[in-house]
Amino acid sequence: MSKTFSGKLAVVTGGASGIGAACAKLLTEQGATVVIGDVQAALDSPNFLDVTDRESVVTFFAALDRAPDVLITCAGGASRHAALDVDEGQMDLTMALNFGGFWRCAQEASRRAIDENVSLAIVHVGSSLHQGPAPELSHFAAAKAASITMVRCLAQELGARNIRVNAVVPGPVETPATTPVWEARPGMREALRKVLPLGSIGDTDDVVPAILFLASPSAAWATGTILAIDGGLSVSS
Ligand SMILES: NC(=O)c1ccc[n+]([C@@H]2O[C@H](COP(=O)([O-])OP(=O)(O)OC[C@H]3O[C@@H](n4cnc5c(N)ncnc54)[C@H](O)[C@@H]3O)[C@@H](O)[C@H]2O)c1
Repeated sequence: MSKTFSGKLAVVTGGASGIGAACAKLLTEQGATVVIGDVQAALDSPNFLDVTDRESVVTFFAALDRAPDVLITCAGGASRHAALDVDEGQMDLTMALNFGGFWRCAQEASRRAIDENVSLAIVHVGSSLHQGPAPELSHFAAAKAASITMVRCLAQELGARNIRVNAVVPGPVETPATTPVWEARPGMREALRKVLPLGSIGDTDDVVPAILFLASPSAAWATGTILAIDGGLSVSS
C-alpha cells in the first residue's frame, strides 16, 4: 500500500532533536526519504546545516540529489533573559536562528523547487509565544512573530509557483529544550498545566501529526495557514 509521503524527499531542519526528530521519524515511517539538517549530528543523517549562516544553507540545499518536496523548519530556540537584560548579541542570534533560519531555508529550497519544477510544501514550526507576552523570552517571541509574518508573505508570493507555506504554532511541549528548564524550576509544569484549558503539557506526538498534515497532499489547498496546536493556550483566560 502506498504511504502518504512515498517517493517524496523531505528536509527537516533541527531534525536531530525534539519536535524535528519526531517529524523525521514519522515522515520516514510514512515513506519519505528524509534529510536532516542540524548543527548537531543526527544518528541516521549527519548533514551539517547552520541555518544562521547563508553559505551553510546554500551548500546544504545544493548538495541534495534533487529539489525537496517537503521542507519542515524546526531549528530554533533561545536562552532566557528578562526583557531589559537582552543584549545586542543575544537579540541578533535569536533573530538569526528563529526568523532568519526559516527565511534562508525557505528561500533556498524554493529556488531549487522552482528551477526543477517541483511542488514544494513548507511547514514552519513557530511558537504560541509569537503573539506575546513571553516572560524571559521577549527576544524569542519577537523573532517567532517575524517568522509567522514571513510565512504569510511567502505563501502569497509563491502560491502561483506551486509552493505552499504554512506554520504550526505549538504550545509548551516536553523536549530536550524544555525538560531541563522545567526540571530546574519546581512548580513550572504545574503552573503551565493550570493555564492550559486541556490541562496537560504537550508531547511531540501531539504536534507532529499536524505538521505532517500541512506537508501532505491532504492539505493541497492550504497555504498561509497558522495552525495552533497548543492545549488551548490561545483561548485560555
Ligand atoms: N518545545 C516547546 O515547548 C516548543 C514550543 C513552541 C515552539 N517550539 C519550537 O519548536 C522547534 C523545535 O524545538 P524543540 O523543543 O524540539 O527543541 P530542540 O532543542 O529539541 O531541537 C532544536 C534543534 O535545532 C537545532 N539547531 C539549533 N540551532 C541550529 C542552527 N543554527 N542550525 C541548525 N539547527 C540548529 C538543535 O541542534 C536541535 O537539534 C523550535 O523552533 C522551537 O522554538 C518548541
